[in-house]
Amino acid sequence: MKVAMVICSHSGNTLKLGEMASAMLMEAGHQVNLTQLVSDPPLSESKPVGANAIRITNLPDVSAADIVLIGGPVWALRPCPLLLKAMADLSPKLKGRKVLPFVTHAFPFAWLTGNSSLNTLRKLASKAGALVLPGVVLSRSAKRNMSQYQEAADKICALVR
Ligand SMILES: Cc1cc2nc3c(=O)[nH]c(=O)nc-3n(C[C@H](O)[C@H](O)[C@H](O)COP(=O)(O)O)c2cc1C
Repeated sequence: MKVAMVICSHSGNTLKLGEMASAMLMEAGHQVNLTQLVSDPPLSESKPVGANAIRITNLPDVSAADIVLIGGPVWALRPCPLLLKAMADLSPKLKGRKVLPFVTHAFPFAWLTGNSSLNTLRKLASKAGALVLPGVVLSRSAKRNMSQYQEAADKICALVR
C-alpha cells in the first residue's frame, strides 16, 4: 500500500513512534512517505498559537496515498494546534481515504487526555469523509521505554491493510 505518514512532533516522541512504524511498514513491503510537519510560526510550548494562526510550510500531497497516518502530541488536553491545523488542511484530500490517527502524551493512562484527543482527530477525519481506523494512543508510564514504542508501532502496523 501507499502510506502517507504525517507527523507533528515537538520533542521527538511522536516522530520516534512514526519512524519505528514507518520502518516496519517498509519492511512489510509498503511504500511509506513520512513528512514531519514544519510550521510558521515554529511550534512553541512557551508561546503556543491557535490552529488558525498556523501556516504549514510543507503539507504533503496525500492524494496518491491508500492510507494516511497522522500523528502528534496532546497539548493542554487536546491535539496540539499544529495537528488540528494539519487535519483541517488535509481534509479536502481525505474523502474516501483510510485515515489512521495516533497520539502520544505524558499522562500514564490513555483515558487521561489520550483517548479524548484521539477521538477528536477521528471525528474530524470522519467529518472529512474519511474511512477512519481505530487509531493508537501511546501513553507514558513511569518507564516509557522501547517496548512501549514497539507495542504502539505494532498496533499501527496491524491496522495498515
Ligand atoms: C504545551 C504542552 C502541553 C501538554 N499537555 C499535555 C496534556 O494535556 N496531556 C498529556 O498527557 N500530555 C501533555 N503534554 C505532553 C506531550 O503530549 C508528550 O510529551 C508528547 O509525547 C510529546 O510529543 P512530541 O515529542 O512528539 O512533541 C504536553 C506537552 C506540552 C509541551
